[in-house]
Amino acid sequence: MGVGVGFGKVILFNEHFVVYGIPAVASAVGAKTTALVERKPGAGHELRDERPETPGYKAEKLQQQKESLEIMLKFMNIDTRHNHYVITLGGDLLAASGVGASAASCAAIARAFSQELNLNFSDERVNEVAYEGEKGYHGTPSGIDNTAATYGGLIWYRREGDAQHMERMRLRKPVEIVMGNTGKVADTKIVVAGVKERKEKEPERYGRIFQDADQLVRNARKQLEEFNLEKVGAYMNENHRLLQEIGVSSPELDELVNLARDAGAVGAKLTGTGRGGYMVALTPGRDIQDRVANEIERHGSQALRTSIGV
Ligand code: PMV
Repeated sequence: MGVGVGFGKVILFNEHFVVYGIPAVASAVGAKTTALVERKPGAGHELRDERPETPGYKAEKLQQQKESLEIMLKFMNIDTRHNHYVITLGGDLLAASGVGASAASCAAIARAFSQELNLNFSDERVNEVAYEGEKGYHGTPSGIDNTAATYGGLIWYRREGDAQHMERMRLRKPVEIVMGNTGKVADTKIVVAGVKERKEKEPERYGRIFQDADQLVRNARKQLEEFNLEKVGAYMNENHRLLQEIGVSSPELDELVNLARDAGAVGAKLTGTGRGGYMVALTPGRDIQDRVANEIERHGSQALRTSIGV
C-alpha cells in the first residue's frame, strides 16, 4: 500500500493574472488531501473518493477527475493491465473550488503511486505529474496550484512560457486567515476561458488592469516580507477590485468579502477560480479570526479557520 499527501492552498494575490505570466503569491493551508494506492489482482483501476465535500462538487468534477487520473497514469508510465489499482482519496481538505482541491489530490496520488511502486519521485517529479493531472481539470493550468500543493509553505510563483518559477517566501510568523465558502461550484476551465475572451475583446482596458496587477503583487510581496499586515490587507482589497474588473467575482463572493471587512478583517478578496468557491480574509490574531468566521457562519456560509506561512 502506498500513501501520499497534497496540501490545500490559498491564492493570496493574482489568480487568473498568473495564467498570463504575471507573478502570484500562494500559501499552503492547514488542511491536506491524502491518497492511498492498493494493488489487487486483476487489471484496471478504480477511484474511491472519501474526501469531505461542498455538496455537488464531486459529482460535478467526476468526469474531469477521471480524465486527470488517466493523464497521470499515462505520464507516470503505470501499466494497469497486470494489476488492479484501488486509489482512495481522503484527508481533511474539503473538496471544493478555490482551495486547490484538485491539485492537492493530484500531488497526493503521484506520491502514493511513487511509494507503492518504489518510483522514488522527487518533489519536482511529483509536481510535474500533478501539473499533468491538473490539465484534466483546467485545460491550461498556470501551475500555481500543483506547485503549492506539492511543496507547501508560502510561495512566489511565475510562469514564463512553459517554464515555471517558484521562490519560497518567509513570513515572520504564521498569520490567521478565514476562508469563506460561497457553496457554489465554479468550473475553472470556463471561468479562465471567459477572461481570455474578454481580454481579447478589450485589449487596452485589460492591458491596464494586468499592469496594475503586476505592480500590485510586487508591492504586496514587500509588505508581506516586512510583515506589514495592514498594507498586505489593503493590497488584498485592491486585488479583489482588479478581479472584479476582469469579471471573475460574483454577488455571493462580494457579499462575503464585504461582510469580512465589516467584521474586522484587514483585507479580503476572492481566491482561486472565482464566480463561486472561496474568498479569503486576512485576520491577524484569534479574536479577529473568530469574529470574521462567526459572522460568515451567521450568514449561513461555511468558514474555514486556518493560517498562512505555517
Ligand atoms: O480554483 P483554483 O484554486 O483551482 O485556482 C485556479 C487559479 C487560476 O489562476 C484561476 C487558474 C490557474 O491555472 O492558475
